[in-house]
Amino acid sequence: MSEQPDLQTLESELSAQVAAAAGMTELEDVRVSALGKKGVISERMKTLGKMDPEQRKAAGQALNQLKTTVAEAIAARQAELKEAELEARLATEFVDVTLPVRPETAGTIHPVSQVWEEVVQIFADLGFAVAEGPHIETDWYNFGALNIPDDHPARQEHDTFYLTPKEDGSRMVLRTHTSPVQIRTMQQGELPIRIIAPGRTFRSDSDLTHTPMFHQLEGLVLDETTHLGHLKWCLEEFCKAFFEVDEVKMRFRASHFPFTEPSMEVDIGCSWSDGQVKIGVGDDWMEILGSGMVHPNVIRAGGLDPDKVQGFAFGMGIDRLAMLKYGIPDLRAFFDSDLRWLRHYGFSALQMPNLAGGLS
Ligand code: PHE
Repeated sequence: MSEQPDLQTLESELSAQVAAAAGMTELEDVRVSALGKKGVISERMKTLGKMDPEQRKAAGQALNQLKTTVAEAIAARQAELKEAELEARLATEFVDVTLPVRPETAGTIHPVSQVWEEVVQIFADLGFAVAEGPHIETDWYNFGALNIPDDHPARQEHDTFYLTPKEDGSRMVLRTHTSPVQIRTMQQGELPIRIIAPGRTFRSDSDLTHTPMFHQLEGLVLDETTHLGHLKWCLEEFCKAFFEVDEVKMRFRASHFPFTEPSMEVDIGCSWSDGQVKIGVGDDWMEILGSGMVHPNVIRAGGLDPDKVQGFAFGMGIDRLAMLKYGIPDLRAFFDSDLRWLRHYGFSALQMPNLAGGLS
C-alpha cells in the first residue's frame, strides 16, 4: 500500500488529466480510468476492507471526498467542452441573412401567376371572395347543371377530355371551364354571392392561341336586385384597373351561352401597330370575355329560387389577358418551361401586385 501515491498526489494527477482532456472521448477515458469499476479510486475503495475500523473510517471519508472532487472536475470540464463545441459550430454554420439573395438562385414569377394575382387583387377590392372547385368534375356540374343538356351542341364545341366510364356508365370530365364553380357556390346556399373563381381548365385543342390546359377566371354575383347595369360597371372597372388606363373603350355584343340569358361577349378597343397591340385606344376590337345574366335553370340547379334570386356571371381567359397586357405572342410558350422565355417574360418575386403600389 505504501508504494501507491498518497491521495493528495492522486488528486493532482487526476485533476491534471481532466484539465488536459481535449475532447469528450478523452474526458470519458479519464472518467473510466478514475471512477469506473476498475478505475484507480474504485481499486482504492476495495482496500478499505482490510483496514481496521479506525483507519477505515478516516480513509473512507478521504476517498469519498476525492471521488466527489474528481466527479465535479469532470462535470465542469464536460460543460466547458460542450460550450466550446457549440461555439465552434456556430462559427462554421453562421449564415448572414442580411446578405443579398445568391444570384444563381434567382427565379421569376410566371406571367400567368402574375396576372392571376393581379385579377384577384382587383376583384378583392371590389368586394369579391375567391372560390374554388375540382379539376375533375361530374358531367352534371360541367354541363347539365349549366343548362347544357346531353344533346346540346356546346358539348362538342368544348372538346372535352373524358375519363374512363364508371361501371354505371357515367363519365367524369376534366372541367372545360370554371363555370361549375358557380353551381358549387350556389349550393352552399348563402346569399348574397360575390365570388371569383380563378383556375385551370382543359380542352382538347392546341394551336397558336390554344393549349390543352389553360386558365380561366369565373365571376358570379347573385342576390335579389343585381342587374345588367351592375355587370357593365363591374367589368368596366375591372378593365380600367387591369390594363392600367383611365379610359377604356368597351363593346357589349349580344351573344349566346346556355347558362346566361341575355348573354354578351365583351370586346375592348385597341390598336395594332408593328404587330404590337395597344389597349384602350384605336379602332380595332379585341374579344376578352363572355358574360350575361345567370339563366333561371342554372339558379334552380344550384338549389336557389330563380323567382327571388338574380345576378350576373362572366368568364375570361387568364392566359389571354396575360398575352394582351404583356404583349406575349404565342400561348404555347407559356407552358414550355423555356428558361430564356421565363427570364424574359417573368416578374420579380419580390414585387407582389397591389392596387396602391401598382399592379405591374
Ligand atoms: N364558361 C364560358 C366559357 O368558357 C364563359 C362564360 C362564363 C360566359 C360565365 C358567360 C358567363 O366560354
